[in-house]
Amino acid sequence: MEAKLKELQQRAILDIDSAGFTDDLEKVRIKYLGKKGELTEVLRGMGALSAEERPLVGKIANEVREEIESHLDKAKFLIKGKEMNKRLETESIDVTMPGAEITLGKRHPLTQGMDELKDIFISMGFQVAEGPEVETVHYNFDALNAAPNHPSRDMSDTFYINDDVILRTQTSPVQVRVMEKTKPPIRIISPGRCFRNDTPDATHSPMFHQLEGLVVGKGITLADLKGTLEVFVKKFLGEHTQIKFRPHFFPFTEPSAEVDATCFKCGGSGCGFCKKSGWIELLGAGMVHPNVLRNCGIDPEVYSGFAFGMGVDRLVMLKYGIDDIRLLYDNDMRFLNQF
Ligand code: PHE
Repeated sequence: MEAKLKELQQRAILDIDSAGFTDDLEKVRIKYLGKKGELTEVLRGMGALSAEERPLVGKIANEVREEIESHLDKAKFLIKGKEMNKRLETESIDVTMPGAEITLGKRHPLTQGMDELKDIFISMGFQVAEGPEVETVHYNFDALNAAPNHPSRDMSDTFYINDDVILRTQTSPVQVRVMEKTKPPIRIISPGRCFRNDTPDATHSPMFHQLEGLVVGKGITLADLKGTLEVFVKKFLGEHTQIKFRPHFFPFTEPSAEVDATCFKCGGSGCGFCKKSGWIELLGAGMVHPNVLRNCGIDPEVYSGFAFGMGVDRLVMLKYGIDDIRLLYDNDMRFLNQF
């Protein structure tokens, strides 16, 4: 038995020495040490030995196993080194080949526009406030002084979830939420999604974005509103841009105005872009209505304020020359990749 084991060891070592690749080594390992390997077979036959012989043969068998294993390890190390050298000699890398293209994502044009608007107002000292998109009738209409029969409350204009809960039609409810919680001075913008029951076409989308501004403090006047908006349009549309106020009506501001800017394409002389008028409609604005201040627990005899609200989608479309709002929501990469 002992001789048989020694002979097995010698054969195994010869086999290992003649192996050229790691694959060959694995074959040798299986041949001798595997489940059905030769050494395993010998060990299985030990049952037939006498009680005195068994520990002796067991010891030798273990030595043989260890010998073969350590020889295998050494050979593996050497062969791996040889294989690596061979690869280094034969494989060369062409460093002038173009690399695999990494496609980087980028911000949606609406997000870019929104970020730019936010940056401008943040640089003017405004803080960003947010409010829920699913709003109550109270915050979206009642607290904003909208008459009970105001047409915007109609089911055909507003998405109702139930009698009291709607999808907000404007960002103005955030004004109320902030004024309820904050003592003046207040200086916030609230950007966000709004919803109206509109059939989509080139200029309407049932979901769109507004950016609201609100300033409340002592002695705030229409001149502050005008100055703020002037600084804003010059930063957003260019240094030479001018604005004008057209009287308008909003339930929550008095007086109210629609604000136009000189066309940034022609500078005001009239072109196809501004439909020959020289002006572009920009936003709604006004002095916060005393009723709204009162609804929020702010004394209109002590404080006054102004508010403005703009359609972000429209501004982004103007700035990038996009002629259909639906393009902003189609998620067509051929369109989006242009910005
Ligand atoms: N919320 C108004 C709208 O959606 C815009 C606006 C905001 C007007 C603030 C005045 C002051 O039309």
